[in-house]
Amino acid sequence: MNNTSLISGKSSEDLARKLSRKLKANLVKSEIIIFPDGESKITLSGNLSKSKSIVVQSIYPPVDTNLVQCLSLISKAKENSSEVIVVIPYMGYARQDREFLPGEIVTMKVLGKLFKGAGASKLITVDIHSMLGLKHFRINSKNVTAIPDLVKYFKKLRLKNPLVISPDKGGKDRAREFADILKVEHIALEKKRDRKTGKVQIKTKNADEVKNRDLILVDDMISTGGSIIKATQFLKKQNCKRVYVACTHALLMNDAEKKIRKAGVARIVSTNTIPGKTSLVDVSDTIAKAAV
Ligand code: R5P
Repeated sequence: MNNTSLISGKSSEDLARKLSRKLKANLVKSEIIIFPDGESKITLSGNLSKSKSIVVQSIYPPVDTNLVQCLSLISKAKENSSEVIVVIPYMGYARQDREFLPGEIVTMKVLGKLFKGAGASKLITVDIHSMLGLKHFRINSKNVTAIPDLVKYFKKLRLKNPLVISPDKGGKDRAREFADILKVEHIALEKKRDRKTGKVQIKTKNADEVKNRDLILVDDMISTGGSIIKATQFLKKQNCKRVYVACTHALLMNDAEKKIRKAGVARIVSTNTIPGKTSLVDVSDTIAKAAV
């Protein structure tokens, strides 16, 4: 992709570098200074293409800071390039895609307006929490999945009669996709989340099929770890063997990783949409294919 600038946001530097190589785009780095009051000052190093810029910036914590930086990068790109593609490997706020309780603001709707207003012409996300979230964006948008990349990792492990499990019914299709590629079976547990406290409960009573099997819990994201911990505690009681976790986005807030391990999870495998200790799977190939 000659004549394309790839603007690397601070939250996705490694992924942006990989993408720039794959797309043969000119990497433009951003230098950030955070002022004592929390404001970001952004300086780009390099010239921007007149025809196309790709902005890469994940919106993980500090979510609002990374969001404003992303919007600023889009705005600057639009001042120079006629087309601006924005890649948001992890889309923060995606769980606020509808009004669950009366009076709640659907923040994804606000983001839709902001991204368009800043100048984005196309949006690419990876395993966004729900497709409804993307409907609030009135620009060309595409969601790609990291499931095949995650499965590739698990194919290399020697698992005992593995079973793929979604911690909730909402994630059943994701679990099915994972299981189909791995050529194994899948089930979904029933989870209930208190909309006010965020606390989760597993409502499934028995799951005989997990006995003596290695399990792969598949989810789109881990935030506090509550869903994975409750599911693991339940599955351990059902006498399963090892429990692995595969997820696209590992936020692992506070001491979530420690708590998940304490619950008995053997390994957490996530992707580099959010860089960290568990991001063992690279999604740059998958994103690159969507960006051409
Ligand atoms: C929920 O529907 C999502 O797919 C995740 O299971 C959830 O957001 C993870 O959050 P936490 O780790 O806080 O339970």
